[in-house]
Amino acid sequence: MKSPLYSNFANQYDKVIQSNIYNAYLERPSLQALLPKLDGLNVLDLGCGSGVYLQYLLKQGINQATCIDYSLDMVNIVQSKLEQWETKVQVNAYVQDLNSGLPSESDSCFDLVISPLMIHYLEDLNPLFRDVERVLKPGGYFVFSTHHPFADFECSMSGDYFARERIQEEWNTIGEPVEVTFYRRSLSEITAAISQNGMVITELSEGKVSAEVEQIDPERFEHLTKNPNFIFIKCQKISE
Ligand SMILES: C[S@@+](CC[C@H](N)C(=O)[O-])C[C@H]1O[C@@H](n2cnc3c(N)ncnc32)[C@H](O)[C@@H]1O
Repeated sequence: MKSPLYSNFANQYDKVIQSNIYNAYLERPSLQALLPKLDGLNVLDLGCGSGVYLQYLLKQGINQATCIDYSLDMVNIVQSKLEQWETKVQVNAYVQDLNSGLPSESDSCFDLVISPLMIHYLEDLNPLFRDVERVLKPGGYFVFSTHHPFADFECSMSGDYFARERIQEEWNTIGEPVEVTFYRRSLSEITAAISQNGMVITELSEGKVSAEVEQIDPERFEHLTKNPNFIFIKCQKISE
C-alpha cells in the first residue's frame, strides 16, 4: 500500500523528520543504540526513505550500502543527496516492493540489515524476513523498528489483539493530514517471523525519548516517557 506521505510529499517528509520529536528524538536514537560498531560494514537499509539513516551510516565509516524503498521519489532524494555528499563509499539505491523480499540481492553478503519504521507496511513479514536471513552473513545482525503492538492496539477496530489488522489513519507528520495505511500485528507475530526464519532476538527495546524533548514539548515528553510508541528489535542470523 503506497502512501502519498512517502511519494507526493517525500520532500516535505524528508525536511520534517530531520528534527521532529518522533523520528529525531525518539526513533533514531533508540534504534542507533542497538547498532553494532559500523566501521567497515556492508549495510542494507530496507525502506530507506530519504536517506537520513544512510547519512548516519556514512558518518560512522561503513564500507558499502544498499538502500531500498518502493517510492521512486524517496530513491531520487537519496540519489541527489549522494551527488551532494560526494562520498567515496559505494551506495546502491533502488526501487523494490519489499513485500516480494529481496530478489536482486545475493546470499550472505551483508554484515547488517536495518529497517527503521517500514515493516508495518507489509502484510506478511515472512517473504522479507526469509530473505533478510539469506542475505546476511552468518552471525550478521538485523535491526528494525516498528509501531509498538500495544500502542497500535488502541486503534484496533476488531478488539482482537492477536488478529492482524489493516489500519487506515490520517497523520499530521508534515503539518497537514495525509492518509496512511499500515498493518497492526501482535508481538507474537513479529517474534515468530524472526524465529521461523533462522534468526534469534539478541536485544529488544521499547525506546527512550531524548531528554531535550522536555524543553521542546513538555506534554509530549511526559506522554512518551509513560507510554510505548515504537519497539526496537535486534536479531542475529544463527551461524551454521
Ligand atoms: C516511515 S518511512 C521511514 C523511512 C526511513 N527508514 C527513516 O526512518 O527515515 C517508511 C518508508 O518505507 C517505505 N516503504 C513502505 N512500504 C514499502 C514496501 N512495501 N517496500 C519498500 N519500501 C516500503 C516508504 O516508501 C517509506 O520511505
